[in-house]
Amino acid sequence: MLLPLPRRPRFLRGAHLPSPVEAPLLRTQRLVLRPHEMSDLETWTRIESDPSIRGNLHWPVRTQGEMRSHLRERTRSTALWQADDFLALAVELDGTVIGDVSMHLRTVASETRSAEIGWLQLPEYRGRGYATEAAEELLGFAFQTLGARWVTAIIDDDNESSMALARRLGFDRIAQTGRKVTFLTTEARAALASYRTLDPRESADAHSQRGSSVRR
Ligand SMILES: CC(C)(COP(=O)(O)OP(=O)(O)OC[C@H]1O[C@@H](n2cnc3c(N)ncnc32)[C@H](O)[C@@H]1OP(=O)(O)O)[C@@H](O)C(=O)NCCC(=O)NCCS
Repeated sequence: MLLPLPRRPRFLRGAHLPSPVEAPLLRTQRLVLRPHEMSDLETWTRIESDPSIRGNLHWPVRTQGEMRSHLRERTRSTALWQADDFLALAVELDGTVIGDVSMHLRTVASETRSAEIGWLQLPEYRGRGYATEAAEELLGFAFQTLGARWVTAIIDDDNESSMALARRLGFDRIAQTGRKVTFLTTEARAALASYRTLDPRESADAHSQRGSSVRR
């Protein structure tokens, strides 16, 4: 079984941002995105135990203790400062954790600053646009707060729902290496996609709120 490679030590990871960009608390029309907490362990265990999530993310089968450690690591993944730093947010609907959105800082220099986004959602909450809404908000954070010039998503070529989500968010497929497909979006592409997915029946206020994350 392939285990994730350990992160390079800080001294090998080069330049850093002027100051760490901390995990925010973000609110969308229906969701709250906030740092993980150890009290999320029960839901986190369900997330880790779901074959569709574990399989697509290539996570190993973990013991209860390993799941707890993995969650603890996520609770500490709260700031982006240097290349490969990781930030993860729990996605909450009406006080219940339904998924996670995350981001690696990949390139630090301001002219080429880039990040890689990730997403997952418990099966019973799929098909209602929650992952789209959460990821759209995190993209807004990447472009507006982090100052990313582009954001990528790396997706297996048989992960149809994840590729559909990327396209819905304005990502374009730009490369494929083996089974890994690289998608990329910019602030302008994401903003355009956000306008396109707005439901015309929503009020003008809802339009400005829901599209605000990538248009701020
Ligand atoms: C990838 C994943 C998060 C996508 O979940 P999802 O439910 O398809 O995404 P959303 O929550 O945004 O829902 C989108 C669906 O709701 C519909 N929808 C309903 N209301 C919507 C709204 N307001 N906005 C957007 N879509 C809406 C969309 O049409 C779409 O339906 P469709 O799949 O029939 O086209 C989920 O499949 C998952 O967790 N997979 C396992 C983990 C994984 O693969 N992670 C990525 C690794 S690269």
